[in-house]
Amino acid sequence: MVSTHTTIGPFTFDNCLMNAAGVYCMTREELKAIEDSAAGSFVTKTGTLKERAGNPEPRYADTALGSINSMGLPNKGFQYYLDYVIELQQEPDSKNHFLSLVGMSPEETHTILKAVQASDYQGLIELNLSCPNVPGKPQIAYDFETTDQILSEVFSYFTKPLGIKLPPYFDIVHFDQAAAIFNKYPLTFVNCINSIGNGLVIEDEAVVIKPKNGFGGLGGDYVKPTALANVHAFYKRLNPSIQIIGTGGVKTGRDAFEHILCGASMVQIGTALHQEGPEVFERITKELKDIMAAKGYDSLEDFRGKLTYID
Ligand code: DHB
Repeated sequence: MVSTHTTIGPFTFDNCLMNAAGVYCMTREELKAIEDSAAGSFVTKTGTLKERAGNPEPRYADTALGSINSMGLPNKGFQYYLDYVIELQQEPDSKNHFLSLVGMSPEETHTILKAVQASDYQGLIELNLSCPNVPGKPQIAYDFETTDQILSEVFSYFTKPLGIKLPPYFDIVHFDQAAAIFNKYPLTFVNCINSIGNGLVIEDEAVVIKPKNGFGGLGGDYVKPTALANVHAFYKRLNPSIQIIGTGGVKTGRDAFEHILCGASMVQIGTALHQEGPEVFERITKELKDIMAAKGYDSLEDFRGKLTYID
């Protein structure tokens, strides 16, 4: 029997596929649709201290090769998502979940995380260090000193299972430097990658999204090779206690298979979920299981991280 069962820290999941933060996760209704789908879990829209309207529309566009977005962190405020995951965890056969969070400043991030620490929530937390779309706010994890400072402070009070959502890195020295910082902390996971920030898509003579004169985060086919490189780079560099979630360019079972080969323990789907809706999980799960069956693999452990190189 082929299974796509997986674990992250002490949590088990019947399926390794789930949504990527930002897609199908803004409201309870959307989250419920993922909960009721073939996905193994959901992650919430990144919740900030206060509710946010986000950037002006149009702010998301599908393209032939993927998507571009500059949402600007629209969300209902972290408490809305915290209340919902606490409510769900009281149901007997609830899945395990990921609560995505970040403040608009380090101080706000600590205020939020202290509230989550004090709450009844027993699931996973994904700290988003990589939003590319808020004007004037750089992607936090491109600033190694600030990232180190935030994590150092967080782990002085936070004891629940926490991972971080990373932007893509593009240089071997940056993989080395980032991994050296992450290895200092009891992270449960890192999630590679967020969108490739600040791309520009043009149709006829015009940009396709309104914020930032059309600049926005890329997802879909554009990003898969970068995502795979980041998953594998961190799989090779991080302490084995820090697991990898692979995100970027997954629209087929083969794409998910490649993320797992690179070392991913869980695989998130953004652009393809936006394009197809929650039925995408059933399709890609079947495609992944068919590949595993053809290769004689029963479980993800049979091939996770076992990417082969040319001698
Ligand atoms: C948004 C986009 C991201 O890639 C992210 O990590 C967080 C928020 C957004 O624009 O809403």
